Amino acid sequence: MRSQPREYTTAPRGAILISYGKTIYRSGKYENNPLTKNKKTPRKKTRDARQEGDKEGKEIITLMALPSREQAQTLLEKHVKDEYQRCHARMVALAMEGYAKLFNEDADLWYITGLLHDIDFEEHPDAHPAPSLKWFAEWGYPQDLIHAVEAHAHGYNGFVTLPETRLAAALLACDEISGIFYAYQKINPIPYNQMKVSSLKKRLNEKSFAAKINRDTIYLGCEKLGVDIDAHLTNLISFFSIL
Ligand SMILES: [Fe+2]
Ligand SMILES: [Fe+2]
Repeated sequence: MRSQPREYTTAPRGAILISYGKTIYRSGKYENNPLTKNKKTPRKKTRDARQEGDKEGKEIITLMALPSREQAQTLLEKHVKDEYQRCHARMVALAMEGYAKLFNEDADLWYITGLLHDIDFEEHPDAHPAPSLKWFAEWGYPQDLIHAVEAHAHGYNGFVTLPETRLAAALLACDEISGIFYAYQKINPIPYNQMKVSSLKKRLNEKSFAAKINRDTIYLGCEKLGVDIDAHLTNLISFFSIL
């Protein structure tokens, strides 16, 4: 069970509050946060802050470490060489960014969560996403991102965590269905923004089409996100229009 943010403070948005060894993440914008400027290694700083907090018995404000989009892209390219997997990461990132804007959420957090959600798949297909969850924790990434990546594997490689946040629900809803769009474009090479909801839905309901794509998780994600499948397809057609 992941830990939920338990309280909010007057800390600037994007800060992590370390309170007697417990980490509370405050979601929000990370760029332009004065606390995150000039940071070196977040992991070390977190450890230092904990030590200082223990010693002085005080609450310490420390840093979180969402990478920039450019840093996330570099990381992706380091671990993912396959062209399809890179394309899939980009599609899911764009879908997540689209939903973040629709819901007035943090577009960078949502985009990067989408971009990195399969970062360990190529190197560790049988354990995915367990290795990446460990990496993200070591790198000090936000708990919201870690939970979303864990929950996108619901029903896969032994993972049973259900999405508990809107970010996690969106990732579940956008992940597998991106594969339907990709496969559909292979048989009907038109731009994504010229695709029709009815045609995509027909393929979605056709089990033999892109048979490896798990439809159940798509519908579960839509349910948790509160978006029906027609609206979801309409939104994705729009979000993928720049591809
Ligand atoms: Fe995955
Ligand atoms: Fe994926």
